[in-house]
Amino acid sequence: MPITLTLPRPDDWHLHLRDGAMLRAVVGDSAARFARAGVMPNLVPPVTTVGKAAAYRERILAALPPGTGFQPLMILYLTEDTPVAEIHRAAETPWVLGVKLYPAGATTHSSAGVRDLDRCQAVLEAMAEHGVPLLVHGEVTDPEVDVFDREAVFIDRTLAPLRQRLPELKIVLEHVTTAEGIAFVRSQEKNTAATITPQHILMNRNALFQGGLRPHHYCLPVLKREHHRRAVLEAAVSGDPRFFLGTDSAPHPRSAKESACGCAGIYSAHAALELYAEAFEDAGALDRLADFAARFGADFYGLPHNTGTVTLVKEPHPIPESIPVGDESIVPLRAGSETSWRLKV
Ligand code: NCD
Ligand code: ZN
Repeated sequence: MPITLTLPRPDDWHLHLRDGAMLRAVVGDSAARFARAGVMPNLVPPVTTVGKAAAYRERILAALPPGTGFQPLMILYLTEDTPVAEIHRAAETPWVLGVKLYPAGATTHSSAGVRDLDRCQAVLEAMAEHGVPLLVHGEVTDPEVDVFDREAVFIDRTLAPLRQRLPELKIVLEHVTTAEGIAFVRSQEKNTAATITPQHILMNRNALFQGGLRPHHYCLPVLKREHHRRAVLEAAVSGDPRFFLGTDSAPHPRSAKESACGCAGIYSAHAALELYAEAFEDAGALDRLADFAARFGADFYGLPHNTGTVTLVKEPHPIPESIPVGDESIVPLRAGSETSWRLKV
């Protein structure tokens, strides 16, 4: 009998579901594993209001395979024009998880993001007052700053001052990738957490250049050096409730990735829990996976734990070369290879 691992049903606190045919192609992968997900708002045009989020939420629910109880928790896209009234609406809407700060130009579909955070001060104060969390893409966009240093510089220039200015604001440093990011979260007394992706604990930046240029390993924040991978993995498996699961699964059509200017984003939803299990097992910490995947995030957001379970089986599981989406396809993480765990269905 192969080894099995049964976990409370987990949540994915950072997920890109896109829209239309792409949404329909990917949402089942998340729904098969996770009870809830924080759905990122970087559509074109972005999901800036509760009204737009309500419509997007309906499209997600309509795209779900029948019989799944998957709950999308919607995230609003912060702009310099977001009115305080929108925060009041968000605070009253139980399925709104928080508001996302994209520094303008930092990543895929972030051009409508924030150039000058001071212009959002009233909105941020309202969020602190009403308990609406701020989810942060933590990278500066200053072209003078080396791409691999952008998270660390963002912490110094933007996040640390913001943290001091608004101690009551709940802040999540999304997809933390560096030792500096981990140290920052650990140094805070309260209201500060980070999500961790599978790619940033399984791979270092060598994966971008393994025998040639690997566009399907390119995401933002970009993979970092080995010592950062170790720091992030160590935090994930440490049992510290400030670190929890957020895949940042971000599907793009193959043609947009395999391009002279390939876009950022790794698709991992097809094997997300299995990939985390690999990393936790390698670190000798499989017993910590349930808290990281199913409890710490809900606790930070003040949401109930899920009922029900998922089971993983310790068996090699092949990953297809690609996943069809209309005339296009997605190349998933581990394409053409395998994971060492599979989801029991
Ligand atoms: C994300 C996407 O494609 O939407 N890309 C990525 O590399 N992570 C955006 C993001 O989360 O930065
Ligand atoms: Zn993301």
